[in-house]
Amino acid sequence: KFYSLSRYTKCFLFFNFFVGITLFGFFYTTKQLVLLMTPRPCHAKTNVMFLKTHKTASSTVLNILFRFTEKHNLTIALPADQRFHLGYPERFNTSFVEKLQNKMQNYNIMGNHLRFNPSEVHKVMAGDTFYFSILRNPIFLLESSYVYYKNMVPAFNRSKDVNEYLASPLKYYREEDYKKNIYAKNIMWFDFGYDNNAEDNKNYTQEVLKDIEQNFHLILIADYFDESMILLKHTLCWDLDDVIYFKLNSRSNDTVQTLTAESRERIKTWCSLDWNLYLHFNQSFWRRIEETIGLEELEKEVNHLRMRQKELMETCLLGQEAVVKTRIKDKTFLPFQSGDANILGYNIRPDLSNKTLKNCQKIITPELQYMSYLYSRQHPHKKRKPLHRALPWNSSLEKTQVPRQN
Ligand SMILES: *[C@@H]1O[C@H](CO)[C@@H](O)[C@H](O)[C@H]1NC(C)=O
Ligand SMILES: *[C@@H]1O[C@H](CO)[C@@H](O)[C@H](O)[C@H]1NC(C)=O
Ligand SMILES: *[C@@H]1O[C@H](CO)[C@@H](O)[C@H](O)[C@H]1NC(C)=O
Ligand SMILES: *[C@@H]1O[C@H](CO)[C@@H](O)[C@H](O)[C@H]1NC(C)=O
Ligand SMILES: *[C@@H]1O[C@H](CO)[C@@H](O)[C@H](O)[C@H]1NC(C)=O
Ligand SMILES: *[C@@H]1O[C@H](CO)[C@@H](O)[C@H](O)[C@H]1NC(C)=O
Ligand SMILES: *[C@@H]1O[C@H](CO)[C@@H](O)[C@H](O)[C@H]1NC(C)=O
Ligand SMILES: *[C@@H]1O[C@H](CO)[C@@H](O)[C@H](O)[C@H]1NC(C)=O
Repeated sequence: KFYSLSRYTKCFLFFNFFVGITLFGFFYTTKQLVLLMTPRPCHAKTNVMFLKTHKTASSTVLNILFRFTEKHNLTIALPADQRFHLGYPERFNTSFVEKLQNKMQNYNIMGNHLRFNPSEVHKVMAGDTFYFSILRNPIFLLESSYVYYKNMVPAFNRSKDVNEYLASPLKYYREEDYKKNIYAKNIMWFDFGYDNNAEDNKNYTQEVLKDIEQNFHLILIADYFDESMILLKHTLCWDLDDVIYFKLNSRSNDTVQTLTAESRERIKTWCSLDWNLYLHFNQSFWRRIEETIGLEELEKEVNHLRMRQKELMETCLLGQEAVVKTRIKDKTFLPFQSGDANILGYNIRPDLSNKTLKNCQKIITPELQYMSYLYSRQHPHKKRKPLHRALPWNSSLEKTQVPRQN
């Protein structure tokens, strides 16, 4: 009885079947259209090279890259043997990088100090690597450089203060000290691999700017650091937490020298190559923001970033702010000190759970310590970097990371 359906019912079912197919097809097509119309979900970029420039908040960026490297189990190109830099101030070549045991493999990340040299850098990075760097207004950069490198750079050492130096730089800046004086004139130009003593003529400058645009996908601006982090996050398809930071390697306010109005103007001509570089990429930075994120969304996201940063500072820090070197309790986290600058650091709250503690420690770890730690994890068979104090998470029990294939 059950099987003997009336002819009418059979027809009805048949009809339904076809309507079903058609409707299904319709919805299917609609779904495809909707999928096509919504922006494709992006994939976090994991092959990234950062040209670390000097005195540009680049240590803070490097900490972000170090944490990202660990989060995704990536490989990172680190200085070979006992070195702390990738051959700087020599032009980069591949011999400055510690080799992986599997020599055929490229690195995912590179960000320690090096003098840019595209053909050699390309040899250690994957073909689809994202290249970025950061610039800072040369006026503030030169003052910072002066204080930080005061005792190391002959041009600075010979003058009383930054204003005296700028009043007549040629009195202090001598050709024969060229290599030691790189921090005293157009240091960003030098870091990008060009001649910081070159004559500033329009053709040459335009040529170099074009070159940099070809070699780098993005140039951030330290004077707009939070905006830079949001643009970086968007461009690389990273999470907000990937670009949350605590300022690293900053100095106490009392070591900042006040530039006179004349000095500020003089920097624009004394460091005219850097000044042109900065003006050019400051413009393209803001153009990029308008074309991709828009100013309104940018403001919203910058506020999110600051809220999240504040929240993390409350979670992690005693006193919720950076402190001068003498007030850093755990000397393991004491940043490298230099010149007349008093480089600030942080104190972690003592009452944190293990996991929170570790995350908090990583975000405040100065670059030399963090680099040495990554080095000993990635190259367990090599002699460790000569650092005096071991980081707390350097336990031999911790799993050695398995380098990922590119
Ligand atoms: C990284 O490696 C660890 C241990 O080898 C593993 O537990 C973790 O899931 C890996 N994470 C990613 C993002 O691959
Ligand atoms: C790399 O640079 C160092 C120092 O400048 C130099 O001694 C070495 O020969 C260079 N190696 C290559 C392969 O170019
Ligand atoms: C800096 O100046 C001091 C005293 O004038 C001198 O002893 C020292 O050698 C100088 N350092 C450099 C790097 O020129
Ligand atoms: C700059 O380039 C233009 C066109 O390429 C050329 O005519 C001019 O001579 C160059 N000027 C200098 C100073 O090199
Ligand atoms: C240092 O100066 C900056 C900018 O003027 C200010 O925001 C900050 O609160 C000052 N920090 C201290 C510890 O005084
Ligand atoms: C950088 O760009 C911003 C936005 O256009 C502008 O307000 C600022 O004056 C620029 N900085 C310099 C030094 O030109
Ligand atoms: C936290 O770390 C301490 C010291 O390293 C260890 O003794 C303890 O077992 C850890 N606790 C948890 C819950 O993992
Ligand atoms: C890390 O830990 C291992 C084993 O506990 C120890 O031999 C080594 O000296 C430590 N390294 C550093 C840099 O502290």
